[in-house]
Amino acid sequence: MNTEHLKKIAAEKATEEVRDGTVVGLGTGSTVYYALLKLGTMVRDGLNIIGIPTSDGTEKIAIEQGIPLSTLASHPVIELTIDGADEVDAHLNLIKGGGAALVREKIIANASKRILIVVDESKVSRVLGTSFALPVEIVRFGWEATQREVNNICGKSDLRGGIENPLITDNGNYILDCHFDGIPEPEKIELQLNNVPGVVENGIFVNRADKVIIGTPTGIQYME
Ligand code: A5P
Repeated sequence: MNTEHLKKIAAEKATEEVRDGTVVGLGTGSTVYYALLKLGTMVRDGLNIIGIPTSDGTEKIAIEQGIPLSTLASHPVIELTIDGADEVDAHLNLIKGGGAALVREKIIANASKRILIVVDESKVSRVLGTSFALPVEIVRFGWEATQREVNNICGKSDLRGGIENPLITDNGNYILDCHFDGIPEPEKIELQLNNVPGVVENGIFVNRADKVIIGTPTGIQYME
């Protein structure tokens, strides 16, 4: 069974928890993509929801799918958010931001009453930061100085895209991918990184997910 199928079954399972008449946070990434397709079908079949997208990319897909959209300004409380993750530990702590949407994802997560994370089984990890570099969004001004400070915490980081062609996020910032040798205390590192001047936000999500829906070759598994 290929990974795309595992992503699809997890994402589609999450859409079963979407209720009529609710505000739904729409995450970003190749797994959530399948949830957006399914929600599009459900909307065309009569489901009434308002989506709040976490990235320009998700906004575009949602519009193509005919999912009505709004903003946090108009809908400050989100009943349910469906989002992906790059790494998930047994305590439902996450690394996110592989798709460069971590800032908006964390803002949407903060406004959400309930968060479902959809992943394929390759994302499950014993200790965060062992299989995926932690994305940290930083402002462009003085980014080299910010990177030096961040490296004091993680050891080594790469500017995503490289110096010649750096990736620019939806918010106009850079991303550092930070190579930890494991993050056994994610709560502490999340705060430490965000304390560095120039850091906008980092991809550690602690105590935010309510349920992780995992696509495996033998079916769906849950962590909650
Ligand atoms: C976007 O910035 C990320 O947080 C994604 O949710 C995460 O990278 C998972 O993406 P995939 O589903 O594409 O692996």
